[in-house]
Amino acid sequence: MTTPGRSRIDGLRAALEASPDNETLLLLLAEALRADGEGDAALDLYERLLATHALPAHDALAVADLALALGRLGVARGCLEVARNGGEVEGLADLELRITTALATSDAPIAQAAETVRFSDVGGLDHLKKVLHRMIVMPYVRPDLYAKYGRRGGGGVMLYGPPGCGKTLVARAVAGECGLPFVPIRIEDIVSPYFGASETNLAEVFAHARALAPCVVFIDELDALAYKRHRAEGDSARRLTNVLLQAMDGVGSDTTDILVLGASNEPWDVDTALVRPGRFDRHVFITPPDADARAVILRRLLRDVHTDARAIDRVVARTDFFSGADLRAVVERAADRAIDRALDTGDEAPLGAADLDHALTDLRPSTLDWLRRARDHVEFSNADDRWEDVAAYLRSRPIRKRL
Ligand SMILES: Nc1ncnc2c1ncn2[C@@H]1O[C@H](COP(=O)(O)OP(=O)(O)OP(=O)(O)O)[C@@H](O)[C@H]1O
Ligand SMILES: [Mg+2]
Repeated sequence: MTTPGRSRIDGLRAALEASPDNETLLLLLAEALRADGEGDAALDLYERLLATHALPAHDALAVADLALALGRLGVARGCLEVARNGGEVEGLADLELRITTALATSDAPIAQAAETVRFSDVGGLDHLKKVLHRMIVMPYVRPDLYAKYGRRGGGGVMLYGPPGCGKTLVARAVAGECGLPFVPIRIEDIVSPYFGASETNLAEVFAHARALAPCVVFIDELDALAYKRHRAEGDSARRLTNVLLQAMDGVGSDTTDILVLGASNEPWDVDTALVRPGRFDRHVFITPPDADARAVILRRLLRDVHTDARAIDRVVARTDFFSGADLRAVVERAADRAIDRALDTGDEAPLGAADLDHALTDLRPSTLDWLRRARDHVEFSNADDRWEDVAAYLRSRPIRKRL
C-alpha cells in the first residue's frame, strides 16, 4: 500500500532525478524519509548536505539526535558544528556530551568522511597557506620525497593567535587538504569533576583517533588543557597534561598516521613540556585576517542578505585588525539597524553602506588587546626567538600608536 509519505518520497525522488544537486529538494526528501522512519537513508542525504554546507542550523540538532540514535557519529558531529556555527544554544552542551560519550564507548572503528573544508575556503592569508602546505600537507602527501632527505611528517603543530581569527577553520582546511577526517577535541568534552575521569576521557579520545587513523586530531585551547604545570591548580591538571604528553609521544613514535594540531590564544601559557621536540614543536602564527580574508568573511556573512557590493569593500577598508568574530558583530549590528528602520518606517530597504558604517562607529577590533599582550611577551621573553613571527608581524604593521 502506498502511504501519503511514500508517494511524497517518490515524487521528490523523481524531481531530484531532474536536478540531482538541488539542495532544497535534497532537504525535503531527507525530511520525508526521516518522517517515514527511513533514518539511514535520510542520514545519507543529510551527510551530503553537510558536505556542501547546506544543512540549516535549525535542523541540525534534530538530525544529530537521529544520527546518534543510529550510531552515525560522524554525521552527529557534523551537525553539532553546524548548530554551533549557526548560533544555536539550546541543547548544544547536552548534544556535545552525548556525542563524546558515544565516541568514548563505541568500539567499532567509526567510518568518518574526510574533511571537506579546503584552503580555498580560507580567505587571504596566502603566506600562511604556503607555510602550512610545506610543513604539513606535502610531508603527508609525498612521504617518499621527505624520507629521501631524512624528514618525515606527522607530529604536532600548534596554531596560535588572537581569538576568532580562523585557527579552527585553518585546522579543518589542513585536514581537508590532506584528505583526512578531522577529529576535534574540546576541553569541555574532556575535563570532568570526577576523580580520574578527565584522564580516561583524553586517553579514550586518542584511542578513538588511532582507530580512525589516518586523521587529524585538533585540540582546542591547548593552554587550558596543559596550563603551565607550576601554575596549575592541584594534581588533576598535572595528570591531564601527563596523559596528553604520553598520547603525543605515542603519536610521534608510531607513525605519521595521526597529525595533531593544537590551537591556543595564550601560547605563552602552554606547558613548555608540550612544545618540546616531538610534541607541538612547530608553531604557526594565525594573524588577524588581512583585507582579502575580511572580504571573504564579509561576503560569507552577507551571503543571504541583500547588500551593495561596494558597501563590502568599504567595510573591508575600515576593519583592519577586526577578527572574523568581530566582523560578525558588525554585520549583526548593521542588520539590527535595518530591522529597526523597517519596523519604524515600514521601509524594508536593503542593508546598505550607511548601516554598516553606523555599525562600525562604536565597534573596536578585539585583536588589538591580544597584540598588545603579545608585544609584551615578545619584548620580555623572546630570548629564544619563540615569538619571532609575532615580532615580524608587529614590525610590519603600523600599529604602534594603536597599541
Ligand atoms: N581567513 C578566513 N577566511 C574565512 N573565514 C574566516 C577567516 N578567518 C576567520 N574566519 C571566520 O571567522 C570565524 C571565527 O573563526 P575561527 O572559529 O576559526 O577562529 P578561532 O581562531 O578558532 O577562534 P577561537 O580562538 O575563538 O577559537 C569563523 O566563522 C570563520 O569561518
Ligand atoms: Mg577556534
